[in-house]
Amino acid sequence: MFNIFLYTAHFTSCLSQLIITGKMSNEISLIAAAENVFKTYNTGKISVQALNGINLNIMRGEMVAIMGPSGCGKTTLLNCMSGLDSVDSGDVSIAGQVLRTMSDDSLSEYRAKYMGFVFQFYNLLPVLSALENVELPLILAGASQKEATERAKEKLSLVGLGDRFEHLPAELSGGQQQRVSIARSLANDPAIVWADEPTGNLDSANALEIMDLLKRLNQAHGQTFVLVTHSDEVGKLADRVVQMSDGVIIGDGKRISNRRLS
Ligand SMILES: Nc1ncnc2c1ncn2[C@@H]1O[C@H](COP(=O)(O)OP(=O)(O)OP(=O)(O)O)[C@@H](O)[C@H]1O
Ligand SMILES: [Mg+2]
Repeated sequence: MFNIFLYTAHFTSCLSQLIITGKMSNEISLIAAAENVFKTYNTGKISVQALNGINLNIMRGEMVAIMGPSGCGKTTLLNCMSGLDSVDSGDVSIAGQVLRTMSDDSLSEYRAKYMGFVFQFYNLLPVLSALENVELPLILAGASQKEATERAKEKLSLVGLGDRFEHLPAELSGGQQQRVSIARSLANDPAIVWADEPTGNLDSANALEIMDLLKRLNQAHGQTFVLVTHSDEVGKLADRVVQMSDGVIIGDGKRISNRRLS
């Protein structure tokens, strides 16, 4: 009985300590973190300091836009935070896992399981149908063909392409191809989706439609999105804008009012 009392008292004290330090709430809601991240590219004689001490916390369910002039380090930041590229110093962690400590194989597996990617030029395989493009990451993650087909159909329907399963990428419009790539990014229900200029190849009407889709997925399913954009229009639809310049973050503002669906 005394042991139970001691155990309960110890547990309560640890719990209040966690709440006081804010550690518990951070552990629950922090999904991605960059801590003092530096990255330099060396090409022969030239050395470019692409990231110069980045600190950034992304919370679960956030929709974050990263903005800034060309060459300021946005893609480098996305690549380093998603483990596509390594950092020179500092740490990146996703869902509490420090990427630096992982082997290449386990990092690839971790990326496939917890992260989705959307690129400016869609990066769809041209010989595969929309359905097969979305099935691919599921099959690579170990799903059976039947499971993969079911899940891919569900994701394509979610992005409004329930009637385009058999179309090849070349038989789809740019906006539709980007929808397929968004469905593919969601295939494994990732904790976070990284999107590098997802609307950069689209006209403004299609860009806003894609952004509206991302926002709805964010609001309805709590999907975390971090997207790079040059467009103020697109940036305005995110609920947080991180502004970069010359490898550093120079602004970080939340837009709470945008979280409501129109
Ligand atoms: N593989 C590389 N080798 C050498 N330098 C690189 C490499 N990738 C990027 N850089 C340099 O690092 C800096 C940051 O590049 P990055 O691609 O992150 O910029 P960005 O903000 O995404 O630009 P943009 O808006 O034009 O896409 C640039 O000065 C670029 O020239
Ligand atoms: Mg870029």
